[in-house]
Amino acid sequence: MTVRFLLNGEPECVEAGATETLLEWLREQRGLTGTKEGCNEGDCGACSVIVTGADGAARAMNACILFLPQLQGLAVRTVEGVSGQDGALHPVQEAMVAHHGSQCGFCTPGFVTTMAAAHKNGAKDHDDQLAGNLCRCTGYAPIIRAADAASAKPVPEWMAEPLDGFDPGETMHVMPDSADALAEWYLAHPEATLIGGATDVGLWVTKQLRDLPEVAFLSRCTDLQQIDVTGDTLRIGAACTITQVLEAVRDVHPSFAELLRRYGSVQVRNAATIGGNIANGSPIGDSPPALIALGAILHLRKGEARRDMPLEDFFIAYGKQDRGPGEFVEAVSIPRQKDRLKCYKLSKRHDQDISAVCGCFNIAVAGGSVAKARIAFGGMAGTPRRALAVEAALIGKAWTEDNIEAALAAFDEDFQPLSDMRASADYRMKTAKNMLRRAYVESLGVPSNVLEVRP
Ligand SMILES: Cc1cc2nc3c(=O)[nH]c(=O)nc-3n(C[C@H](O)[C@H](O)[C@H](O)COP(=O)(O)OP(=O)(O)OC[C@H]3O[C@@H](n4cnc5c(N)ncnc54)[C@H](O)[C@@H]3O)c2cc1C
Ligand code: FES
Ligand code: FES
Repeated sequence: MTVRFLLNGEPECVEAGATETLLEWLREQRGLTGTKEGCNEGDCGACSVIVTGADGAARAMNACILFLPQLQGLAVRTVEGVSGQDGALHPVQEAMVAHHGSQCGFCTPGFVTTMAAAHKNGAKDHDDQLAGNLCRCTGYAPIIRAADAASAKPVPEWMAEPLDGFDPGETMHVMPDSADALAEWYLAHPEATLIGGATDVGLWVTKQLRDLPEVAFLSRCTDLQQIDVTGDTLRIGAACTITQVLEAVRDVHPSFAELLRRYGSVQVRNAATIGGNIANGSPIGDSPPALIALGAILHLRKGEARRDMPLEDFFIAYGKQDRGPGEFVEAVSIPRQKDRLKCYKLSKRHDQDISAVCGCFNIAVAGGSVAKARIAFGGMAGTPRRALAVEAALIGKAWTEDNIEAALAAFDEDFQPLSDMRASADYRMKTAKNMLRRAYVESLGVPSNVLEVRP
């Protein structure tokens, strides 16, 4: 298929395979070998490039799990395009030299592109911005110093993306440009694989070497990328990225936003969609427990037919969701309630790691007693699951330490977790119970976040 995008400011027209990755194409077809292959699964950031859309925001993304059709109509900048045409260095490149930010240099192009994207957006939270880039020999201190030094410098004019006059031409059926077009096509091709951000599907191709005979990309469905805010509801389109969702919930549900800040890395959050995070049915996806605790409603669509359900009912069993052939996730709605949601993610590494256990607590206390409780966990069962027995043990009781301790036994009714490489069953059970204790002490104003209690 033909894919058109800007590459380092120049129009590019590529005959691409539907699941050909940008990294493969850059290095093997286009001869742009500055972009490196480290892990080929979104974990190391060596392949980071900058992707810009019509909104002008620069997004660091992992080229190894980005399929070429996802770039239709966008602008891509690789490390080769970060310096000026006359060889002038970008401020982040100058700063990397001045602050000794590179030793073996293998990670450096990925750092430079990620830093240049952050620099263009004016982002100064360098630890977060660079959490998806691994460096094995320099160490992060000089790199963070370089990012900090560069942040005061202006964005070079060559970093502008001339998308205004760029005509990407017709889009094809595999890149539908609306939810209606997607619905019609998918009804006729129910066996096809939908591709949101490809942060799962990309790995099916690069790691499992799977062939996907028929695919459709959601990246052109702008109506699925909208977040509608009404008085008491946020309706989030399925193709909204985790970055978009994080921004949308930052003020209303800050603990959910903090959970999403620890979702993968900037590169992963810029690609992964909320629809993909729900539809994949993973028991350890981070957004479902928070959404379920909030009482989210899932909106499904098949052709013209639509149906809604509480999100928890979508997850039937491990690998089995309530979604028929030709049916897709159109949106998810959450209430904009007075915030009381607490989300706790437990993973081996603080950043860029999948949860071993993720617990989300939406507990309303009125007059000293628990009036309402919605509690949901990831990593404790074959699906994201509500802790119904724990909720029942709390509701109507005084919100006291004794009653919290008494409610802990109900966890054994709700869950029989598994042991796997992330955590043992015993550890999962113990930490899940501790999360309830944590929600309690936090409600008393006691700091419980490791980043808060550290001297
Ligand atoms: C390095 C790395 C780190 C990660 N870290 C985390 C993490 O911290 N937390 C976490 O939860 N996940 C994490 N993930 C997993 C991944 O990001 C999520 O599962 C992601 O949300 C998938 O979304 P996507 O849009 O990329 O899905 P895709 O890969 O595009 O699709 C995933 C599945 O959902 C289907 N699908 C997509 N959209 C729809 C739709 N609208 N309707 C129906 N079906 C659909 C696809 O057909 C496919 O079966 C990580 C992944 C990587 C590679
Ligand atoms: S090669 Fe490691 S993230 Fe792409
Ligand atoms: S400079 Fe060697 S891995 Fe970063």
